[in-house]
Amino acid sequence: MPFPQERPRRMRRTLALRLLIRETDLSSRHLIAPLFVKEGVADPIPIPSMPGHLQHTLESLRKEAREIAEKGVNAFVLFGVPERKDPEGSEAWNPEGIGQRGLKALREELGDDHVVIADLCLDEYTDHGHCGVLAEDGSVDNDRTLELYQRIALAQAHAGVDLVAPSGMMDGQVAAIRRALDDEGFTSTGILAYAAKFASSFYGPFRDAAECAPQFGDRTGYQMDPANSDEALREVRTDIEEGADLVMVKPALPYLDVIRRVKQETGFPLAAYNVSGEYAMVKAAAMNGWIDGRRATLEILAGIRRAGADLILTYHAKEAADWL
Ligand code: PBG
Repeated sequence: MPFPQERPRRMRRTLALRLLIRETDLSSRHLIAPLFVKEGVADPIPIPSMPGHLQHTLESLRKEAREIAEKGVNAFVLFGVPERKDPEGSEAWNPEGIGQRGLKALREELGDDHVVIADLCLDEYTDHGHCGVLAEDGSVDNDRTLELYQRIALAQAHAGVDLVAPSGMMDGQVAAIRRALDDEGFTSTGILAYAAKFASSFYGPFRDAAECAPQFGDRTGYQMDPANSDEALREVRTDIEEGADLVMVKPALPYLDVIRRVKQETGFPLAAYNVSGEYAMVKAAAMNGWIDGRRATLEILAGIRRAGADLILTYHAKEAADWL
């Protein structure tokens, strides 16, 4: 047979034909924009390793969220960067702390037209930079940390968030937070669980942005081993049983197989976190003229959706919303 029977190129001839058979949709409503708010600064501070991103003041936070919202992005995650840190991270649950003030500002600015999500963790707030309180031997004490997560969840619920997003990878964190919220009557406050969060090298720029690099050791005692995907499924199932409303896999690009498995095997609403290092790589290469930043970004985001993520937390949210 000299000629092929199949002619798939027929359907690639024009953009209209390509759109006709496109399988994966990517639009601004699939994107969640992460933002940083810093206490005690008069002006927003650029984050060098994350071009285009700033540690915001309360005022610039509102303005940025409004601009991004107007581009059709539906949801925001906030990270607070406090002035004062201590071994317990007590600013994390201070009702007047920078995290809660930032969340209230977002709620006020966006009303109920957009989803406000609070990252729930201690590493930005502890002076040692770990995601929980330390035991005598320097390891992170799981169960004492859960009590502190419960306090943070309540402070964030009081600030008016739709969802809290525990990112510390403590055992039992979703159940503990669910119980605390329910006991205080916050039955409508949901949980976006960072269910499978890997101990990744791609969090570097974030640790500059949130000023939360561990002062000793690393996070391999609580975050997952990059080699494991069966374990990721167990983590996700546990979080669903404990009461998560959405689950997340983090980072995204080295874990597309995990995203695919989680979606196929659970069918649960799934977010993927396209993390700071993934963003920084694209920006650095684009700034050097080595890749086309716009095309690379849209290809990456479409790839994460194609793998099975319903939602993507991404630092590209603002620019991608412009391009979509
Ligand atoms: C921990 C947290 C981290 C990120 C989000 N939440 C950092 C870490 O685990 O060290 C990283 C996100 C990113 O790199 O974009 N609270």
